[in-house]
Amino acid sequence: MLILSPSILAADFTVLGEQMAKVEEGGCDYFHFDVMDGMFVPNISFGIPVLASVRKFTKKTLDVHLMVQDPGRYIDKFIDAGADIVTIHKEATDDAKAVIDAIHQRGKRAGLAIKPNTDIDELSAHFGDADMFLIMTVEPGFGGQKYMDMCTDKIRELRSRLSAKGLDTDIQVDGGITRDNIRTVIDAGANVIVMGSSVFGGDIKANAAYFTELFAKYNKGEIQ
Ligand code: DX5
Ligand code: ZN
Repeated sequence: MLILSPSILAADFTVLGEQMAKVEEGGCDYFHFDVMDGMFVPNISFGIPVLASVRKFTKKTLDVHLMVQDPGRYIDKFIDAGADIVTIHKEATDDAKAVIDAIHQRGKRAGLAIKPNTDIDELSAHFGDADMFLIMTVEPGFGGQKYMDMCTDKIRELRSRLSAKGLDTDIQVDGGITRDNIRTVIDAGANVIVMGSSVFGGDIKANAAYFTELFAKYNKGEIQ
């Protein structure tokens, strides 16, 4: 099933609630919440208190992407603040399995992410552990970058390896997804689609509605 996860990193934070309400009017499944620590990635975004405010505002699934070194330190805090899904980076920890287990022990879904230049073998090693795999389609750290075409083959290869094992685990893509390349990532096998600029840039409600309607057609089998 295709799922839309708009990234609030691209919102205007002075009117975050208003903009999230517009997204919800247009339709969405999740909200994607990008946490950057200035160590794992060369940028700093927002963290636990902002997540707690967002949690009060929406009932949607909160999909928290931790671009944080040693994420195991913060799992409980983000879950306490309202995360429904916590995604960590394979490159950021020596023991991804232990962190995934810690997320599951709190009854939440766990995602495992890789940067564009990390081999997908790093994800295959965790088949059956994680509930979602995230293939970054830009270098993490900033919104509004261009989709890296080399990532399409990685999505396809990951979907094929999962299918070969009889798994239909969610594959999330994040970075540079637009109206122009959305079909490319879906055809390659991605199903949880993160979009920042493509939802929050311009007419927010209309953008969310565009992707929600497109995904509904796929989900009903009207587009293949
Ligand atoms: C980048 C973040 C993304 C970003 C996507 O490090 O993980 O979630 O917000 O933004 P766009 O869709 O604008 O590339
Ligand atoms: Zn993200």
